Amino acid sequence: MNAAIRAVTRAAIYEGWKVYGIYRGWEGLIMGDIKEFTSSSVSNTIQRGGTILKTARSDEFRTPEGRTKAYENIKKFGIDALVVIGGNGSLTGAQLLASEHDVPVIGLPGTIDNDLYGTDFTIGYDTALNTIMECVDKIRDTANSHDRIFFVEVMGRDAGFLAQNSAIAAGAEAAIIPEDQTDIDQLASFIGRGIRKSKNSSIVLVSEKDGGAMHYAERVRQEYPQYNVKVSILGHLQRGGSPTAHDRILASRLGVAAIEALNEGQRNVMVGVKNDQIVYVPINRAVRYDKPIDKELIKVLSILSI
Ligand code: F6P
Repeated sequence: MNAAIRAVTRAAIYEGWKVYGIYRGWEGLIMGDIKEFTSSSVSNTIQRGGTILKTARSDEFRTPEGRTKAYENIKKFGIDALVVIGGNGSLTGAQLLASEHDVPVIGLPGTIDNDLYGTDFTIGYDTALNTIMECVDKIRDTANSHDRIFFVEVMGRDAGFLAQNSAIAAGAEAAIIPEDQTDIDQLASFIGRGIRKSKNSSIVLVSEKDGGAMHYAERVRQEYPQYNVKVSILGHLQRGGSPTAHDRILASRLGVAAIEALNEGQRNVMVGVKNDQIVYVPINRAVRYDKPIDKELIKVLSILSI
């Protein structure tokens, strides 16, 4: 987040524009919690987790009245365009504001879930992925020493990108993700593959949706009582810490591209990256469509976890 705020601020100042930082997202726009940003406002921030602008959920912005209040502050501060950094909720808000009021909006995909359509990666995803991988590497020591099955629950809301790819990166035995909820029972298929055929321990990454790791651990306790099962829920560990190089570079590129988009007169698009090239996707498409997970990843994990 901070690398993106820094890039947007500096790229806009580079163009000779005035920049305001809006604190606590839509809530801050409604309250007028807005301050001018200079180049030094974003010094020493690229390596920091969280967001220097803070963030908040805003119930008021969900109402047309709330959005009108926000627009009144946009006019009051003489703001000509907004750059919104966030996930599905923030960008849906951006879309609504832009459809009701005359303000150009550019979105930047900022979420650890990587679930925004139209971009290969979202800002924060790679950092969370690396954090999960490091945690699983540590959990593996106990799994191995004690011959246990670990169900490790990770975030992702409705999407399984974090679970699937961290399972591959950490050499886990399986991932249980929402996108793979077909008729095949993922737990039964994992057990059926013979979890102890060649190994004495197993690690399964589980998406948080639908009961998450607890649900599957409970099922194993009931249905396969011979196994020693443990659960680890990684929680907000996944959302903190210093960003990876990949995330810092992505955020820097997307932030600069957001200002270029405004310069070119684009509005109501999300800036993304596809095949390492900058792309612009209408915000309504980015939030409306589900981003599919590459089925190849499911195959790779199942081949490598024999
Ligand atoms: O969308 C990002 C995310 O971290 C999800 O993966 C998770 O479900 C949710 O936010 C957690 O939100 P909160 O911190 O409000 O509990």
